[in-house]
Amino acid sequence: MSDLVDPEKLAADFTADYGSAPAGVWRAPGRVNLMGEHTDYNDGLVLPMAVPWGVSLALTPTDDGVIEIRSAQRPGEPARFTTRELDGDRRRDTGWSGYVAGVFWALREAGHLAGDSVGARIRLDSDLPVGAALSSSAALECATLLAAADAFGLAGLAGDLPAMARLARRAENTFVGAPTGILDQSASLRCRAGHALFLDCRTEGARNVPLPLEEAGLRILVIDTGVQHRHADTGSGYAARRAECERAARQLGVAALRDVEDLAAALDTLTDPVLRRRVRHVVTEIHRVNAAVGLMRAGALPEVGALFTASHLSMRDHFEISCPELDTAVESAVAAGARGARMTGGGFGGSAIALVAEERLDAVRDGVAAAFAKRGYAAPTLRAATPSPGAHRVR
Ligand code: GLA
Repeated sequence: MSDLVDPEKLAADFTADYGSAPAGVWRAPGRVNLMGEHTDYNDGLVLPMAVPWGVSLALTPTDDGVIEIRSAQRPGEPARFTTRELDGDRRRDTGWSGYVAGVFWALREAGHLAGDSVGARIRLDSDLPVGAALSSSAALECATLLAAADAFGLAGLAGDLPAMARLARRAENTFVGAPTGILDQSASLRCRAGHALFLDCRTEGARNVPLPLEEAGLRILVIDTGVQHRHADTGSGYAARRAECERAARQLGVAALRDVEDLAAALDTLTDPVLRRRVRHVVTEIHRVNAAVGLMRAGALPEVGALFTASHLSMRDHFEISCPELDTAVESAVAAGARGARMTGGGFGGSAIALVAEERLDAVRDGVAAAFAKRGYAAPTLRAATPSPGAHRVR
């Protein structure tokens, strides 16, 4: 997965599939979240950056009411359905094509694409690992959405990134059935190269905060544990955490955990120790987002590392969404000299990130690989990530 998709090759493959060149090629990135985990659906703050890896998508609009999707990752498995079917049987398609179908469904439902004759020919290719908590679902949704908005001439929508993020999230929540927040879609659409996205998930207000890693002699190392996670499964840990947060907010009489101002008083009010742990994580994590942004703005980037590690401990011990492989990644990275490390994304598997001084990169890579080998875990995949641009047209 280290080679990035070549848009010319994707266009040529599209032409081979469908007999004529695509109207365009679009690309949407995955993300790592630097701080603010499980805060988005609590109306809180998040701080993602886009990664260089993403989903590329070639598309041509048609008026035959048929949507056909081919994927380089699923060569023998084209998906084909009519626009009319979107309102019926296709609902809750949690397979790869469900994310594309969900976007067309959401576009129809919001009145952006009217009538049953709307159709499209699509070819996808991805260099973003699936199930690594790098937001491959949102990248697929956002690539589809941007391509459709451009190709169908929905200029008003294409120019309104918060509205696009809401729409992509609706595809995921309501069509695919994964109860996620707005973090991933916002990151894929609203991030900028060289910046992190400081997003208030209640107001949707955002700032692109400079993240001059290279100038500071630092790297973000993404450690993919290879442990797969999934959030669309009913009864998943993700859905359970979300429900616990809602229960805690109700017991505290606040609209969302974002509104808890006095943590000690809130912890006194709650009788369930599980809910107390969940609230402690969410409230302190929101403060850590503010603290991280403060340090970044002060030019004290290395100091953000300590917040990474504090955040990981909170996720491990209070939100209880880590796993032994993620803990190993974090502990071994820090032991080998990383400034700090934390799991990123929904948890229960996927990736950790480490903030590492350039001269410690090799030592950290070796230390993490050795720790995984010692515990008998499959070798993790390690990649350094630069803060990359959000979704855009590439051809
Ligand atoms: C997943 C979800 C996001 C967010 C994160 C945890 O990535 O899709 O909405 O809740 O988990 O921060």
